[in-house]
Amino acid sequence: MPEIVDLRSDTVTKPSPEMRRAMASAEVGDDVFGDDPTVLALEARSAELTGKEAALFVASGTMGNLVAHMAHVPRGGEIIAAAESHLSLDEAAGHAVISGASLRLLPADADGRMDLQGIEDSIYDDSDVHMAPTGLVVLENTHAISGGQPLSVAYTDAVAGVAHAHGVPVHVDGARFFNAVVALETTAATLLRNVDSATFCLSKGLACPIGSVVVGSRDFIFRARRARKMVGGGMRQVGVIAAAGLVALQDGPAGMIERLADDHANARRMAEALAAMPGIGHLDPARVTTNFILFGVMHPGQGRMDRPDRDLRSRFIAACEAEGLLLIAYPNGLVRAVTHYGIEAEHVDRAIAVIRNALAAVGAAPAPAVAAR
Ligand SMILES: Cc1ncc(COP(=O)(O)O)c(C=O)c1O
Repeated sequence: MPEIVDLRSDTVTKPSPEMRRAMASAEVGDDVFGDDPTVLALEARSAELTGKEAALFVASGTMGNLVAHMAHVPRGGEIIAAAESHLSLDEAAGHAVISGASLRLLPADADGRMDLQGIEDSIYDDSDVHMAPTGLVVLENTHAISGGQPLSVAYTDAVAGVAHAHGVPVHVDGARFFNAVVALETTAATLLRNVDSATFCLSKGLACPIGSVVVGSRDFIFRARRARKMVGGGMRQVGVIAAAGLVALQDGPAGMIERLADDHANARRMAEALAAMPGIGHLDPARVTTNFILFGVMHPGQGRMDRPDRDLRSRFIAACEAEGLLLIAYPNGLVRAVTHYGIEAEHVDRAIAVIRNALAAVGAAPAPAVAAR
């Protein structure tokens, strides 16, 4: 059996040797007492990198978003977010169950952007007893369902302008925030300059085994820290995991941010190869600007943008798996491949070959003349 190429997600990344060394030798203390020097260093580095006053280390992106909502939105308030955002689909309704907030979901365009006028029209103050007053606008950057599109500095600033004009804060769900920073060739501080808070994940493209960071003002982080305590997220000698984050957030080739450009280049190359294959639909390689490749598996005779058949997709994913390539089913009948740390050019070549064979095996494309190995 050849080596498994796992493109299901960038969450499957394993810590680098430098991370493991840093974890083994990390100085630790009781973080609930504020005594863990490695956590304090990670929080200081995160604040510095994002241009915010303070930061809070949390267990996951979901926890980071949740404590941010709790810190921003009074119970009975409303959060504006894009339909099909992670917050609305994949966070177990924590906004409702724990924060006590309703969601106002707005459609996003193909690039993951909600309409600015639509946001403004959806903001309610507390003057009408019928309405839940708007407590927060959330942007997801990169925006997963649109194929990992990065939301630009100009758009982020514009949303902040609209929200702030009504006294409403803006939070960025940045599970893959540094993919956006790298794709946009900007800095984290520039991309966040006008928003109030953000969560970014260490455990995805940055390859740490666990953890996310919430950034914002000192007051906001104090409230988020209280919320983290409330949901049981106060951890003790967690310098052992924060140490990996400090490795990831180093500048230049020593850290894990700059190398995200390699993941993006690998994704683009794979997308270009896939888009040229019969049996592949819903894929425009020019739109692959970060580390997501979304595509449909099409029957012969179907148009490239027709509705993909889910049964065909299941058979295709199983055929890839049988050849050692792991992919994942994604909303709207699509398949997702994600490039990440540990995926090199040869793995991309192998993935392309396996996909070509699998398309033939499930009858989506004619058999290749020579079976690729
Ligand atoms: C956009 C987005 N936000 C938040 C999360 C949640 O992160 P975690 O899995 O660390 O809870 C994810 C996870 O994939 C995500 O894609």
